[in-house]
Amino acid sequence: MTQCWRLDDERQTLALASSGGRCPQVVYWGAPLPAGEDLTAITRISTLDVTGGMLDENPDLSLCPEASRTFPGQPGLIVRDQDGTPLLPKFHLDGVEVRPDGLTVICKDQGNRLTYTADFALDPETHVIAMTAALSADRPLHLHWLAAPVLPAPQHANDMIDFAGRWCGEFQMNRTAWSPGIRYRENRTGRTGHEHFPGLIVPCQAATNTSGEAFAFHYGWSGGHRMIAEELPDGRRQIQFGHAARMETSPSTEFRTAPLYAVYSSDGLNGCAVSFQRHLRDRVVTWTKPGRPRPVHYNCWEAVYFAHDLPVLKDIATRAAKLGAERFVLDDGWFGQRDDDTSSLSDWEVDPRKYPDGLGPLIDYVHGQGMSFGIWFEPEMINPNSNIHRAHPDWALGSEDQVLGRQQKALNMALPEVRDFLYERISKLLSTHPIDYIKWDHNRVLPMPDAAQTRGSYALIDRLRADFPDVEIESCASGGGRIDFGILSRTQRVWLSDSNDALERLKMQHNASIFMPSAVTGSHVGPRKCHTSGRVLDIEFRAWVAAQRHMGFEMDPRELTDHEARVLADVTAWWKDNRDWMYTADILRLDASDPSVIAEQQQARDGSRFVVFSGKSGTSPQIAPRPLRLTRLEPDAQYEISLRNRASATVLSRGNLALKEGPLTLTGAALMHNGVTLPWSFPESMWVLEGKRL
Ligand code: DGJ
Repeated sequence: MTQCWRLDDERQTLALASSGGRCPQVVYWGAPLPAGEDLTAITRISTLDVTGGMLDENPDLSLCPEASRTFPGQPGLIVRDQDGTPLLPKFHLDGVEVRPDGLTVICKDQGNRLTYTADFALDPETHVIAMTAALSADRPLHLHWLAAPVLPAPQHANDMIDFAGRWCGEFQMNRTAWSPGIRYRENRTGRTGHEHFPGLIVPCQAATNTSGEAFAFHYGWSGGHRMIAEELPDGRRQIQFGHAARMETSPSTEFRTAPLYAVYSSDGLNGCAVSFQRHLRDRVVTWTKPGRPRPVHYNCWEAVYFAHDLPVLKDIATRAAKLGAERFVLDDGWFGQRDDDTSSLSDWEVDPRKYPDGLGPLIDYVHGQGMSFGIWFEPEMINPNSNIHRAHPDWALGSEDQVLGRQQKALNMALPEVRDFLYERISKLLSTHPIDYIKWDHNRVLPMPDAAQTRGSYALIDRLRADFPDVEIESCASGGGRIDFGILSRTQRVWLSDSNDALERLKMQHNASIFMPSAVTGSHVGPRKCHTSGRVLDIEFRAWVAAQRHMGFEMDPRELTDHEARVLADVTAWWKDNRDWMYTADILRLDASDPSVIAEQQQARDGSRFVVFSGKSGTSPQIAPRPLRLTRLEPDAQYEISLRNRASATVLSRGNLALKEGPLTLTGAALMHNGVTLPWSFPESMWVLEGKRL
C-alpha cells in the first residue's frame, strides 16, 4: 500500500509517499500539480525499472536513507549505541501530522528503540520550505551524522553551484557537473566560515539568473556544515545537509538538525534569490525596530585601527556626520591594553589610557553629532596575553599547545561560567551607556568542531537580546566568516567581507544576494587606496557600490578631497532618499551579455520603481557596450528611465546617447526584450539607472 501527502503553494508542490509502511520519500518537487493529481500514480510512474546487476527492487531514496535497506548511497543517519556498537536503523512510518502549511512525519525503529521525526513548513508567501530532522532514543547515543530531511535533486540538471571563499574573497560560485558519486563539502572549522558557505543551487538545463527552473538550499547553522550531493549508480540524485559529522561530542537522547531552507523556482536563480531574501528579512531576522530606516554607518576600523585618540575620533565623528553618517561604530582597540592584536581579548573593560573618563565623553559627542553609538566585541575569544587568561586558563577551548589564530584562542562557550562572565561584562557596558549596536566579531576558527560551542554562542546572544531588545548586532568573523540564517535569526546585519575594495565587493555582493537582502548586508566606502588590495578606486564607484546595500563609510574622512566629500555626500543623500523602498526591494541579478558587466535591478515590492546598478568590473572584449536586458517588468506598462549619474560620462563616451540627455519612456516589454544600451564607461565604474512605472 502507498500513502501520500502533499504541500502546496502557488509556486510549487512537494509530494511525499510511503510504500509498505516505510519511511516516506519525496516523490515529486517542482511546479504545482493540479489539486486532483493522483499521487500514487506519480509514485508509480516514477518507479525505476530494474535490469541485470540491480536488486529486484530499488531501495527508497527516503527522507532518511537507510543502509539497512540496501540503499546504494550515503545514509541519512549514522549513530552508535552507548557502548559504541554501530546501529543500523530501519524505520517504519508511525504517523504523519498534517497542518495547513506543513507536516510532520514520525517514524519508529522498534528494534533499536529510535524515533525519527522530519518536519516541513512551507511559507506560502516566500515559498521557502524549512525542514528539520530529529532523532530521539530511550538511552544516550553517539551521533555521527544526521541529515536534515533528504531531498532528491532533479535529473534535468547538468550542474550544481556551491560556494567557496576566503578572507577578502567571500561568496565565490563554483559550478560542478553532476557525475556518478559524491560532491562533498564539509566545513570542520567550527564556524560558518569563509571557505564553505552552506548553500547549494541546482539550476536545471539552460537556467539563468532570469529564466529556467532552479532549486536552492541553505543550511541555517553557524558551527560548520556537511553537504552531500550524490548521484547514485541508478542515476537518482540526493541532497543531504546537516551539521559537520561527529560534531556532537557527548552522547544524548535527543538530536536535532538546524533548519534546511529549500526553494524551487520556475524563473531562474532570481526566483530562489527573491525567496531567500524575503524569507530572511521578513521571517528569520528579529528586528529591533521593524521597518525603521537602516542608519548610515561610520566604522572607524580602517581609519584608526588600534590608535584610539579622543580628539581624533571626535574630529572623524564630526566629518562622518557631515557626510551623512547616522551611527558611529567604535571598532577594536577600546579595552584592556589593546594596542595591537596580540593582547587583551576577554579583558572587556575600557582602557583608561585611551579613555581616562570612560567612553561617556565619546558617546556624548557622537550623540551630539546626531549619530547613535555602536561598539565592537569579540566575545568568544581570549588572548593568552590577557588578565582573564591568566586567571582562568581552563576557560580556553582546546589544548595548551594548539596553534593560535591571530594570537588568540577561543573560549569554551559550553561552560556556563564563561557565558555568565561574558554576559556580565557586555551587559555592564550596555546598561551603563547608551549603546544601540554591537559589532560581534569571531576572528579565528575553532581548534575542533563542536556543536556545543555554537549552542553556547547562540545562548549568550539570546540572553543579551532578551535583556537588551533595542541593541542590534552585526555578525562579523574576519569579514564574512559567520553568515548564515542561524546567526541571522539573532542578528540584524552581516559584515560581508573585510575587503572594502569596491571592485571585489561588487562581485561578492552580487553572489551573496542569492541568499541575502540589502537590509542585512553591510557595505562601506573604503579608503581611496584599498588597505586589503592596494587598488586605488574612484570615489564615485566606491560610493555607489556601498549604496547597493546597507551603506556605511570606513575610510578616514580626513583623507577626502572636497570633490570626494561632495560625491560621497551626494550618493549618501540619494541612498537616504531611496532606502525606505529599497529596504523591501528584491535584488534581481541581470544576465549581462558582457562578462565585464555585473548588473542588478533592485525592484520595489509593488513593481512601481526600480534602480539598476550596472557595474563595470573590467574592460570589455568588444568596443561598445552591449544592451542590458531588464527583468520582471510589466510588458505593457510604460516606464520612465533616467541615468542618475549621467554627468559622469567620460570624454571618451562621444556618442549622442539619449540617456545622457535625460529621461526616456519605454514599455516593460522593450526594456526586457530589447534592453538598455548604456554609455561607454571606464572599468571600475557604475551606471545607476532609475526607473518609474508611469
Ligand atoms: C576583523 C573585522 O572583520 C574587522 O572589520 C575589524 O573589526 C577587525 N576584526 C578588528 O580586529
